Amino acid sequence: MNRLAVVGHPVAHSLSPAMHAAAFAELGIADRWSYEAIDLPAERFASGIDELRERGFVGVNVTVPHKRAAYELAGERSDAVAAIGAANTLSFGPDGIRADNTDASGLIAALPPGFDPAGAEALVLGAGGSARAVAWALDRAGAAVTIANRTEAKAIDLARELGVYALEGGDSGEALDLAPFDLLVNATSVGLASAGAEPPPPGSDLKALRLRADQLVAPLVVVDLVYGSEPTELAATCTSGGATLIDGLEILVCQGADSFRIWVGQQPPVETMRKTIRDNR
Ligand code: ATR
Repeated sequence: MNRLAVVGHPVAHSLSPAMHAAAFAELGIADRWSYEAIDLPAERFASGIDELRERGFVGVNVTVPHKRAAYELAGERSDAVAAIGAANTLSFGPDGIRADNTDASGLIAALPPGFDPAGAEALVLGAGGSARAVAWALDRAGAAVTIANRTEAKAIDLARELGVYALEGGDSGEALDLAPFDLLVNATSVGLASAGAEPPPPGSDLKALRLRADQLVAPLVVVDLVYGSEPTELAATCTSGGATLIDGLEILVCQGADSFRIWVGQQPPVETMRKTIRDNR
């Protein structure tokens, strides 16, 4: 049995086990491949990974809060991992641990058919770990990337490090000017529902992101990395306004498909994975 898992903390609600199990079943390889969710707190990450290797696991996806630690643990790193400083996919071989970052490749794969990132003008909202992966991936794919963040200094630092642009006036509160951009990516945590909390009042997510509903129209392409059991306010506004939306569930599918290719070495049944994710959200 080739065992795989997603390792995180918390991880119980991850949609990845169901998505990969459905893919194995579709390809008729479920007797040889399995995928589970394993909760490991930060302080047990390295020892936990050692243990999984000893138990015969062949690889893992890594999620919050372990993506940086996964980068550090790996003996071999893809270009994306080396540049981003974080990994979401580990493969265990006889010679050690190899790290890939399919958050980066998955984002590019998720872009709509016919949308060429090369030469596109992209605005990335956020300056944390997710924004870093997105900005690197888009820059690498040939887009002109601009980063905007609530805390402007962080946008400027990240942009300088990656060799992309930063938008100044991060905390002015005024709506961003989207006119120059073909692509908008929400890589902040705005829209993430906190368990048990009241939903925020209508309009508050857009306000936090400094967006106006009337800007979210065709031909703008919007990627929202955030997902939950309900569409985010940003996603719902794109759907009603006419902007092309790639939501966080689609990003999950595309990063999962890329991880699958790395481990299994076969083309994953992406449509089955997509349906499983949407049915289980
Ligand atoms: P991740 O690893 O997912 O990128 P992170 O590193 O915690 O998470 O980054 C969260 C991002 O969301 C940051 O860019 C943060 O902005 P700040 O740098 O100003 O903190 C952004 N963010 C979180 N809450 C926000 C809010 N209410 N309004 C605007 N931006 C927000």
